Amino acid sequence: MKAKRIIIFVLSIFVFLGAILLFKSLLVKNDGSDTSNEKNSSKKTEASAYSGVNIVSEVFDETTFHIAIHYPKFKDEQLNQGIADYVSESKQNFLNEVKNNKEFLKENIAELNISFNIYPVIDNVYSIVFSNESYVVGANGTQSTKVFLVDIHNNQYIQQTAILNDNEQNRDKIYELLRNAFEQSEQYSLYFFKEDLKNWIEDEDNHFSNMYLTDKSVVFKFNEYEVTAGAAGTPEISIPFDQFKEFLTDEWKNKLAVEVEPDHQTVPPKVNNGEDSEKPSDKGASTGGKRVALTFDDGPHPKNTEKILKLLDKYNAKATFFMLGNRVDFYPNIVKDIASKGHELGNHTWSHKDLTTLSNDEVKKEVKQTNEAILKAVGEYPTVFRPPYGAINDRVDEVSGMPATLWTIDTLDWKSHDPKAILSIVKENVKDGSVILMHDIHATTVEALEPVLKFLKEEGYECVTVSNI
Ligand code: NI
Repeated sequence: MKAKRIIIFVLSIFVFLGAILLFKSLLVKNDGSDTSNEKNSSKKTEASAYSGVNIVSEVFDETTFHIAIHYPKFKDEQLNQGIADYVSESKQNFLNEVKNNKEFLKENIAELNISFNIYPVIDNVYSIVFSNESYVVGANGTQSTKVFLVDIHNNQYIQQTAILNDNEQNRDKIYELLRNAFEQSEQYSLYFFKEDLKNWIEDEDNHFSNMYLTDKSVVFKFNEYEVTAGAAGTPEISIPFDQFKEFLTDEWKNKLAVEVEPDHQTVPPKVNNGEDSEKPSDKGASTGGKRVALTFDDGPHPKNTEKILKLLDKYNAKATFFMLGNRVDFYPNIVKDIASKGHELGNHTWSHKDLTTLSNDEVKKEVKQTNEAILKAVGEYPTVFRPPYGAINDRVDEVSGMPATLWTIDTLDWKSHDPKAILSIVKENVKDGSVILMHDIHATTVEALEPVLKFLKEEGYECVTVSNI
């Protein structure tokens, strides 16, 4: 009798534990913003500024490789499949490379970065342009691109041959158009091979699959080495609609002509819109006491950055945000919030590539595009610059045109995802003038921030922007 009772008791504990686990797993599934519980990897889905488009960010940090992948996600699963296939194939190729080069990866870390730009074309039609960058071993990484044209109303991909009439005569003319553009381009003319362009245009499997649209022009995006020397990176040639009209199918001539306003220029950013004129400034507000600079990299992030701003306000702290241009482009309003609260704006490049592996032109582009995105969002340029991974050499330092700001304390928040560990690293290392590295893309960093701010306050530190250190 007693034994039976014990069995029932033990069984009911198992049932109880099982119910808790089930409940927990349901909770995790329901929270779309934080799906990872593995320490070295994370996968997040967030809304973007473009309706019907979410952004998925996947990060894997292993001892021999780092992977950072960003891709769009739509409501329709079939539409997602094509992009998911592309992403998983790229990832698999990279992992195979890593596996084949295991013995060389003891000192180097292999890297895969997949990011994308999104261009609205007409209602419900977007161009998605992937940039795929990998580095395993050897002197140079490889870069490639991939274009998807999506119609999120009809849930289908648009083939380039539905947009332009792909026939012999048009191919010849488009060749001439592109050849001229390359030869006249300051950026590419030195590296251009017209024979390669000729082969490219005659390739029967090509069908202009690298062509995409913006709201003003037709753009041809080439892979590295496809029609230029490697120094040109992945070149692109943009041709305004009115110069491309004769090649368009009637359907698309109509669709685009309706939307195209003649001479429509992007509105230049307003330098001061009056609203933010009461911007607080801590410049020169020196108290002579101990100071630290909190810095947040890789954002802005729609949820976490806003939470961080609230906490900083609560503790009367100023910080510096080193932002990625492509995320600034997605979340301009968060950048506005950062600026209006008196924090410092930092450039962390457009797509988080290791700048030391890029050509001079690419480094310039990574920095400049980001400066322009921040200017467009808030009407002012960022004042500081931090290269991704802290990777810098003399060449990058010179070419970037902005002095690099690194850090003195790495909280390892991206690795530990542990608020206690983050706090204890700060406690053990902080001193007057410390520059503390954190990342506003992680929810666990937000959790760590309040205890960190509390501790710094108790110890008599003033939190200032990095320029004020
Ligand atoms: Ni970073």
